[in-house]
Order: sequence, then C-alpha cells, then structure tokens
Amino acid sequence: MTIEDDKPRVHDELLWNDWHPVAFSQQIDAGQTQAARLLEEDIVLWRRADGSIHAWQDRCPHRGAKLSLGCVVADQLACPYHGWRFDGQGRCVLKPAQPSLPLPAAPMVSAYAVQEHYGLVWVCLGTPVRPVIPYAEFEDSRLRHIMAGPYAVRACAPRVVENFIDMAHFSFVHEGILGDAGHTEIPEYTVHDFLDDSAQPGVRAEGMRVSQPQANLQAQGTADVVYGYRISRPLSAILTKQIVGSEIAEAITLFIQPVAEDQSQVWMVFSGVKSPEPDEAVRAFQDTVFAQDKPILESQRPQRLPLQMRAEQAQRADLLSAHYRRYLRAQGLRYGVTP
Ligand code: FES
Repeated sequence: MTIEDDKPRVHDELLWNDWHPVAFSQQIDAGQTQAARLLEEDIVLWRRADGSIHAWQDRCPHRGAKLSLGCVVADQLACPYHGWRFDGQGRCVLKPAQPSLPLPAAPMVSAYAVQEHYGLVWVCLGTPVRPVIPYAEFEDSRLRHIMAGPYAVRACAPRVVENFIDMAHFSFVHEGILGDAGHTEIPEYTVHDFLDDSAQPGVRAEGMRVSQPQANLQAQGTADVVYGYRISRPLSAILTKQIVGSEIAEAITLFIQPVAEDQSQVWMVFSGVKSPEPDEAVRAFQDTVFAQDKPILESQRPQRLPLQMRAEQAQRADLLSAHYRRYLRAQGLRYGVTP
C-alpha cells in the first residue's frame, strides 16, 4: 500500500463503470507508451504493431515500478526496472534475470477496457454499463473536426461542466470574445429533462440566443448566436452553436477526464464549418477561452459542486445549472459534489 492509498477516497460506481477520455489517439503510435491518470488510478497506454491499444494498471507485478517508464520491445511491453516483458494479454513472457524459469500462463497485469472514438482513447476502469457518449456531429462530413486541449485544471469536474453550460459569465470572463459588457442579460430559453430515459438520461437546453463580439474565427464582427446544450453523462456536455443566418450549426464537446476528485483534464473536439483557417488557429481560439476560465474555476469554493441550489441563486441564467444539478442527484453522482 502506498502513502497515497492511505488517504480516504471517494469511490464512485457510476464513474468507475463509465468511459472517460485519457489521451488523443494520434499521440500513441505503434510501439509507444503513455502514462495517464484516471479517478486516482495510474494507467499505462501502449499500442501494438497491429494498431490495437492497451490500457493497463501502471504497476509492474514484480516490484511495482511504473510500466509507463518502460518501452515496447518486439511488440511486448518491457518493464524499466528488471526488464520483465508482457504480451498483449498481460502475460509475462520473459524474466531476463532467470530466462529458464517457467512462466505462469495467466495474465499478471490488470487490464482495463479501452476503445477509441472521436480521435480519443477512452478507458473504463470497471465494467462498462453503456457505450461511449454519443457525438453524432463527428460523422457529419460537412464539418471539420479539430482536437483542442487537454486543459488541466485544479477543479472538480462537475464545476467545469457547470462553467461550460453557463452563459452569464461570457460578458465578464470572455468580454470582447464570447460576451459583451454592454449586453449582460440572458434571455428566456427552454430546458428539457430526460431523467427517466433509461437508455440516455440527460438534459437538453435550446434557444439560448446571445450576441457575441467574436463567435468564432470566421465571424466578422458581432453576431447573434443560438446556443444549445446536451448533457447525457455527468462529466460531459456538448454545445451546439449556430450563428443566425448560417446553415450549419457547429458543435464543441466538453469531455472531462476526472484525474482526481479536484483535478480535471478537459478534452475538446471542435466540429466546425470548413474554413481556410489552420487547425492551430482554431485551437488557439479555444486555448484563449479556456485560459480565461481556468483561474475562475480554480478559485471556486467549495471545490465540490453543491447539488442543492440555494433560493437566492435562482435566476433565469441559472436554470440549466439547476437542471444539471438535479440530473447529477438523479444519477447518484458522488465524486466532486456535495449532495
Ligand atoms: Fe518490473 Fe522488476 S519491477 S521487472
């Protein structure tokens, strides 16, 4: 047991048995390893020559060294400490200090469920009870898809989601880009709950019309924009954004990797109208917006999101937040929240 294992941890079955993003697929080429951390568990990701990706507990069964510090040799993962090698099933196939020793047939390394979607690697630490969050816009050939992030932030993941679905901060935190200090009022919008939908419980908001000085990189001056939000996982949200007069709505994901209860990593997929701007410029725009959010998120106290909204907070702008908190209560989330 490590010192870290001694501290009390909140174990959340809901998150343990769900999928979470941990890396960009393109970061891990065949023959490469990468470390990741999810729900306070260390993971090693590695890819074999046939393209298959593996996510294992990042701990060698011999003396506990981190396998992510090792390397891939002959399509096997080699521990950095004494060179034990493991095949794709987690079986030890070589102990260099005594090569003649018979090797156990059973896997020695704990493997996690892993798959790739939307250019991201998703891991489930427990038993997956549902598929990776649906993101239909990724299949839309009229849109180009650009990855942004990951953005590390010292904040509980539900706080980060609530910030993403909050429009009232635009005029203050993103003044001159997503908001205008002269237009702070949030208009009427509608929110629908799908809390009893056993297949896809969640929340949707529609018709949030605002005026933005720079809605996206292509916008020429201030434009009216209609926002919508879909929430179908506790730590994710998808924003759709349509500039009034344009034919296609763009979408931006907020997929959060809960690194620890108070540490989050944000992965974004921007599905926007095809335009001449390079991907780097789109990424830089998202970088700027998130850099403005980060100090606010890290300043919020209490760090855990209170699931009860106090009466004095009840204003129209907080309607979606109130529904999100209700959804989290209905889901039974425990991580990063106060019931
Ligand atoms: Fe990994 Fe010894 S700790 S081979």
